[in-house]
Amino acid sequence: MRRFPHLFEPFTIPPVELKNRITMAPLFTAYANRDGTVSKLILDHYKEVARGGVGMIVVANALVDPSGTLSKHSLRVDDDRFLRGLSQLAETIKKEGTAAALQINHGGRFAKGKTVYAPSSVSISDINIGGFYKTTLKSLDIQQQWAVVSEAIYHRPQRPKEMTVEEIRRITTAYSKAATRAKKAGFDMVEIHGATGYLPVQFLSRRTNKRKDQYGGDLENRMRFPLELTEAIKDAVGSDFPVGYRFLADEWLPDGFQLDEAKIFAQRLSALQIAYLSVTGGTYESFSNPEIVEKSHEPGYMVYLAREIKEVVNLPVITAGRITTPELAEEILREKRADLIGLARPLFADPKWPQNARTGEEDAIVPCKDCGTCFQLIVADLPALCPQWDKATLIERKSLIKEMRNPRKKVLVAIDGSENASMAVAYAGDMLAKRKDVTITLLHVQTDETVKNENEIREMMDIAQSLLVKAGIPEEAVTIEVRKKRAGIGNDILNEIAEGGYGTVVVGRRGISRAQQLFFGSVSNKIVQNTNDCTVWVVE
Ligand SMILES: Cc1cc2nc3c(=O)[nH]c(=O)nc-3n(C[C@H](O)[C@H](O)[C@H](O)COP(=O)(O)O)c2cc1C
Repeated sequence: MRRFPHLFEPFTIPPVELKNRITMAPLFTAYANRDGTVSKLILDHYKEVARGGVGMIVVANALVDPSGTLSKHSLRVDDDRFLRGLSQLAETIKKEGTAAALQINHGGRFAKGKTVYAPSSVSISDINIGGFYKTTLKSLDIQQQWAVVSEAIYHRPQRPKEMTVEEIRRITTAYSKAATRAKKAGFDMVEIHGATGYLPVQFLSRRTNKRKDQYGGDLENRMRFPLELTEAIKDAVGSDFPVGYRFLADEWLPDGFQLDEAKIFAQRLSALQIAYLSVTGGTYESFSNPEIVEKSHEPGYMVYLAREIKEVVNLPVITAGRITTPELAEEILREKRADLIGLARPLFADPKWPQNARTGEEDAIVPCKDCGTCFQLIVADLPALCPQWDKATLIERKSLIKEMRNPRKKVLVAIDGSENASMAVAYAGDMLAKRKDVTITLLHVQTDETVKNENEIREMMDIAQSLLVKAGIPEEAVTIEVRKKRAGIGNDILNEIAEGGYGTVVVGRRGISRAQQLFFGSVSNKIVQNTNDCTVWVVE
């Protein structure tokens, strides 16, 4: 008999089968590329966690709208151009037999941007956080001093703008579009981030919601935004696609959103046929309170909240929060205090946690020491690291981080076999040969007008590649892409530029035949006229 029979019992979040009861609770890492696309670092990170045997991974904190930006390195799901990377990420996780969920979020008053949206124009100076700020820094220990610093970082001096009803509707639509994209990308489900003090919580809490309209006042009104956005998402993705909810059961703040109201809200979410509730406590304000800091060191410190919520709904409930040992996880499940276990930092410290628990080698688990390093790094907008990793892992991660922070410049050269295209390749080779920080993609869009068979295409690509190599570009810096025409050559190249995050594109002024010259000529014009963040070199 297995040592942890409950932990390794399969579970279904219809229609998704989980091989065990261990889930990765979302842990934001600041590992995305600067443009919000999926980086190699993200792929490697989640692949390693999936390989460790976890039943489901909730990929943390993808932004539904640029106005909700929390970090320069947040994942984004607010545009179709992010689909390609997200599809790769979902596939990477699912390949290991692990269910993949994408957590979607809007930072509201915590966002960094020109206009900061929130239910009301409430800034930190308006908020009573239980007298904590009356304490002088000197009297605090290191942990507590850090809490004050993190407060200062998170609470920008600028006042958020009270959202108009129109803006509320626009953001609601952004959530539902983001969820649809997650589904399209191949994720098994989405999770609405309704915890930690982000936009949905800002509407729920009296502390941050002072509105006088239908979105503020009594609980019914304060619940309106999170309920409307859940409904909009459910409508958009359809009933066969599970929508989970990261749920805040108690802000742990005076006059905050508390358990009695949370129970009612949980029931309302349940009526909307949410797939699960992943129950948490605390927001950025309360995380800084020394009493809460103390409480959060205790094993299973949020389990009581999960149990309280589980009592009022008939839904799968996930619990997280310093569940460091398989023994504790097993006990929670055996006593039916929750249905699924969420591990954030324990899996970050040791992705093999599930595997070691399954084989009864729990002594081999490298424990999370609750040192706070990962959290402190991300709050400072630096990529998360764990001091518990071995030296080799640390070195590898740091080198990937360096690459991600200083990405090689991506250059796209569009070729069709014409003389101008060859000149474009030669020009790119000459201009870029001395640059060690570029990668070049040779792109050919196959069309009915310029049909080439596979051999001809290979030959054309070989010639172009050898031109670049002869000019001094390393072979490994050159990749080849062939795409079938979908939306017209110009549009296909523009899509490639946007989806691939290219900084420079090189095209010939005119294409192969006389008719083509006219045609391809308009392509180069189209590209010049329709690119924003990309430099275009037109060669003739
Ligand atoms: C560095 C860090 C990043 C986190 N990012 C997220 C996030 O993006 N979304 C979320 O819902 N919770 C986030 N959390 C909260 C965790 O999911 C989890 O609830 C909390 O860390 C307690 O669980 P643990 O002891 O297993 O880490 C984060 C926690 C940490 C430490």
